[in-house]
Amino acid sequence: MGSISSRGPLGGLPRRVRVVEVGPRDGLQNEAARIATADKIAYVDLLSAAGFATIEATSFVSPRAVPQMADAAEVLAGIAPRPGTRYVALVPNMKGFERAVAAGARAIAVFTAASESFARRNINMTIAESLDAFRPVVEAARGVGIWTRGYISTAFGDPFEGAVAPSAVLDVAGRLLDLGVDELSVGDTIGVATPRGVEEVLGLLLRHVPAARLAVHYHDTRGTALANVLLSLQMGISIVDASSGGLGGCPFAPNATGNLATEDLLYLLHDLGIETGVDLDQVVAASRFIAGKLGHAPASRYLQARGAA
Ligand code: COA
Ligand code: ZN
Repeated sequence: MGSISSRGPLGGLPRRVRVVEVGPRDGLQNEAARIATADKIAYVDLLSAAGFATIEATSFVSPRAVPQMADAAEVLAGIAPRPGTRYVALVPNMKGFERAVAAGARAIAVFTAASESFARRNINMTIAESLDAFRPVVEAARGVGIWTRGYISTAFGDPFEGAVAPSAVLDVAGRLLDLGVDELSVGDTIGVATPRGVEEVLGLLLRHVPAARLAVHYHDTRGTALANVLLSLQMGISIVDASSGGLGGCPFAPNATGNLATEDLLYLLHDLGIETGVDLDQVVAASRFIAGKLGHAPASRYLQARGAA
């Protein structure tokens, strides 16, 4: 068992990290089994009880593109909001934004990519077209006080093109910030990043973007996600996306297995003496609940090591 350190964090690390739980969206969207709306709601409520300040609850995308998210409005309207938790809804365009607002969304995320091939597969737009589509969305959101996040997928590599230039990531980041998003999440959609790429991409971004507005989003496809997180924290990042149980992947990125598992991340952070405000045992309870509905074991190494305890 890891010891929860009463000492301060290791040198150079932030005292506190905000973990953004993306399991209900990034996780579930990739699951073949259709999950009942009531079970999605119960899953989000369990995650709320664990204490997350930010949960990405669902997405208002085309139901033809992602059938699992067709019940987004019912999910968002059905959850019991916890004071202190921000529930984010992913939207690809104005239609999604209007649906999200009608369902009561107070926070949204728009998403594009650092590479053209992935943008085309994922949202059927060029990067420039996607930014044009987001402009009215972010404007409308800001006009009514809705918090906004911008995702940059494939920031460390593209499944079809391979390498992605850090300057391309910076370019998209600058355009999203110009639109007025509150926070950027820089994503390794296919889990190819190693600390070398992290140093290159974040090193460049941090010269232009305040760390307080930058989140990192790693997938653990090749087992490098926690190494990437540690370096990111040492570089000044304090917002990290993760998915309970390690659920997820991306239906538009072949063989992109799970997101970094929230449990694995919390185990590391807490042992380093970093506060998150999140209760690991309650995350485990949420992951076990949803695993029972999915019919397969979660990928989280922490969960596997813990067995039935
Ligand atoms: N919500 C619901 N329906 C939507 C929608 C939304 N946000 N946006 C578009 N649609 C509908 C349109 O009304 C249209 O329906 P119709 O054929 O019945 O008239 C249909 O979807 C096609 O619309 P179009 O504007 O031509 O979009 P497209 O087919 O080029 O798809 C996206 C573009 C962005 C809507 C679609 O690719 C998408 O939703 N992608 C999301 C992928 C995703 O969630 N990825 C997760 C990150 S890994
Ligand atoms: Zn992801």
